Amino acid sequence: MLRTHTCGDLRQKDAGRKATLAGWVHSVRIMGRKAFIDMRDRYGITQVVMDEALKSVFSELTRESVLMVSGKVAKRKEVNPKLDTGDIEVLAETAVVLSKAEPLPFEIFNQDIHTTEETRLKHRFLDLRRSDMQHLMELRFKAATTVRTYCASKGFIEIETPYMGRPTPEGSRDFLISSRTFPKHFWALQQSPQIYKQLLMVAGLDKYFQVVRCFRDEDLRADRQYEFTQLDFEMSFVNDEDVMKFTEGMVAMLYAQLLGIKLTRPFSVMQWSEALDRYGSDKPDRRFGMELLDLTDLLKKSGFQAFETAGDAGGVVKAVLYPDRVGKKDLDRFNRIAKEQGFPGVAWVLVEDGKMGGGISKHITSAESDLVKLGNGTLFILAGEKQKVNETLGSMRLLGGELKGLRKGTDLVWVVNFPLFEWGEEIKNIQPGHHPFTAPKPEFEKFLLEEHEKSELLSVPSRTFDLVINGVEVAGGSIRITDPELQHRIFELLGISRKEAGRKFGMLLEAFKYGVPPHGGVAFGFDRLLQVMLGRDSIRDVIAFPKSKSGRALMEDAPNEADKEQLKDLGL
Ligand code: AMO
Repeated sequence: MLRTHTCGDLRQKDAGRKATLAGWVHSVRIMGRKAFIDMRDRYGITQVVMDEALKSVFSELTRESVLMVSGKVAKRKEVNPKLDTGDIEVLAETAVVLSKAEPLPFEIFNQDIHTTEETRLKHRFLDLRRSDMQHLMELRFKAATTVRTYCASKGFIEIETPYMGRPTPEGSRDFLISSRTFPKHFWALQQSPQIYKQLLMVAGLDKYFQVVRCFRDEDLRADRQYEFTQLDFEMSFVNDEDVMKFTEGMVAMLYAQLLGIKLTRPFSVMQWSEALDRYGSDKPDRRFGMELLDLTDLLKKSGFQAFETAGDAGGVVKAVLYPDRVGKKDLDRFNRIAKEQGFPGVAWVLVEDGKMGGGISKHITSAESDLVKLGNGTLFILAGEKQKVNETLGSMRLLGGELKGLRKGTDLVWVVNFPLFEWGEEIKNIQPGHHPFTAPKPEFEKFLLEEHEKSELLSVPSRTFDLVINGVEVAGGSIRITDPELQHRIFELLGISRKEAGRKFGMLLEAFKYGVPPHGGVAFGFDRLLQVMLGRDSIRDVIAFPKSKSGRALMEDAPNEADKEQLKDLGL
């Protein structure tokens, strides 16, 4: 070993000992004939003192150079209470600069000097020198270890499934890799191990898990990456509650180990329809109130045209009560949300001290006595088709929570029984709410085998469960279809012919012929879970080498054009 101790090890009890440290020059002060160096590694910072005898290395001591020193540990006259090692220093007898650092491209440690995220990502190996980032990497490892320990204790085994395979049906675009051996043929990087894990159940490997990289070519957001890691689980001979209970045990263990928080179990469970009605979202942030208010009966006859029209067309009139006045700038933000969703704007009234004023109040005076009972504040009202009104008010509610600083604390909730299908505007057909292997509620199996209007199919509930933490979907799972006929029927309803289904999912349909156990599972976005648990704004913070906001690997400068030779080899 090139060192006897780390830069975080030494304490007063070590005074008089000899020690060899190796690490980075965090800072240097040359005072008279002496140099005082803060030496840093992953474990801490130790002050090293060099006197004139080592003067030859002084000029080499640039910030972030890698240095090795040997010397005696001595008690410090002036203790530095900010450092764990603050009551000792090492009096260097020998010193070697192992690698001299050039001037740095940015201030790594001084957060007061703003550096763009792009610059940090371009030099991620330097950004990762910050103790904050190193701590996040350690926590990530601790979380993965906790998951593995938990799974092993429950009899689960980790099995690796292929990254390269056929296109996967998770609803995003695939990343394709061209095959050299089979020109013009492509592998798809797996969006999730969904099919493989179901095949493992057919194989009888009844308790499977995997910490697995997944690949999805979708627009990036603060909680999305092209490649991300799932904690993936599948189990046989289980029902919905069994999968949820198993998962809760793991999440509870993670909260206890990483944050020292004891979660109340079982977690709350909410029907998908209730989440939408009350919070305007299938991932409700329940840490604050401002729930959606249904004012349809009250306002559809108020005389205000838009409310009447919506009411007559079978729509709803709903509202969110923001418990304060809203200034012009914030009002614009609420309006923008409404406009983005195709509303002309948002109607509002201000209620104060039992009186209604401003906005559209003079058009709905007949409802004043009822509206003022709702409480003081700005009432934002939207009228129209139910789901659109719910979702738009849901976004406004989140903005309200944000403005009031209410999005704090921890809340976990299962949202269950999503619709089996949703309307795909782009394809003008129904599409899977989750993925096409998700089982419907048993009482709807017969219904699905019969002929129905597409619109009727949209109300079929599924055996799904999403775990939502603080308004973020961190996991999704379901009980799977195991009846080949029902599976074929679902494909048919989705517009996938028998032939096409055979081509795309033949292995699963074939496997189901030879004895398939009832099974179900769930997958967590591991990065997203960590982001939420650790309260980080961006998923990039918990990934060592993430893609940038615009979807580039800035450090590696990828994606990039391929060499002509390479393309030729691939027949492209
Ligand atoms: P689903 O598609 O819901 O389910 O994905 C599971 C979880 O993975 C996370 N996630 C992502 N995280 C970061 N970047 C992304 N681009 C991204 N996409 C998804 C989310 C999500 O909840 N096979 C099913 C699971 C199952 O049914 O067992 C699946 O993949 O946190």
